[in-house]
Amino acid sequence: MSITSQAELAGMQRVSEAVGLTLKRMREYAQPGMSTKELDTYGGNILKQLGAKSAPNVTYGFPGWTCISLNHEIAHGIPSNKVILKEGDLVNIDVSAELDGYYADNGGSFVLGQDLNGLQPLVATSKRSLLKAIGQIRGGVKIAEIGRIIELEAKKAGFKVIKNLVGHGVGRSLHESPHQIPCYYDRTNLGRFKKNSVVAIETFISTKTSYAHEKGDGWTYITPDGSFVAQHEHTIVVTDSHPIILTAANQIGI
Ligand code: CO
Ligand code: CO
Repeated sequence: MSITSQAELAGMQRVSEAVGLTLKRMREYAQPGMSTKELDTYGGNILKQLGAKSAPNVTYGFPGWTCISLNHEIAHGIPSNKVILKEGDLVNIDVSAELDGYYADNGGSFVLGQDLNGLQPLVATSKRSLLKAIGQIRGGVKIAEIGRIIELEAKKAGFKVIKNLVGHGVGRSLHESPHQIPCYYDRTNLGRFKKNSVVAIETFISTKTSYAHEKGDGWTYITPDGSFVAQHEHTIVVTDSHPIILTAANQIGI
């Protein structure tokens, strides 16, 4: 969407604070031994208390309130009683919600407890590349340029990026124009960021593979080769200078 009034900005701020707070609380609540269903139920209740509705649930019928993806899962992991969090897991929580007709999207990966698999550099690279990319976004900047920045940052740290999962416009629905904000340099993408538009910028930083595969459950994206992928995502408003990071209210530095 494009922000045309103070009321629209306030609406986007409210829903962004709701998803940011839910993500922060879920991350703090996650413990080894807990099922991803229990973590999701906890997050779903927070959204409800804030008057927000799970966006993937209302938009696509996703079987959960939030997406929780572990280790070789990249995105859209389905919360389950059978999936138990373990020390050292790479956990990705992606929270998107609707409130008063506005939508925001916020996600982040973290290592649960001790870093038994040495994944902290991957997580740090994902966070760093997201903030670096966001810092370069202004009205008129090419969308492809942002992909180039994220890909370069990943490369410098010895990592790859996933090419078939992307950021997107957001605001009046979960996914809207521009539909393709990749985290690699796509020379065929001629679009530019527009001042006042609301977009969700996402990184997908991978230890090896460049492509996500659908697992076969209709939702979950996984790596085909056992690679780990870290994702971080913020909803922002594009301006003439540094963007407004709407979902930064979660204060966990992603
Ligand atoms: Co998301
Ligand atoms: Co998104």
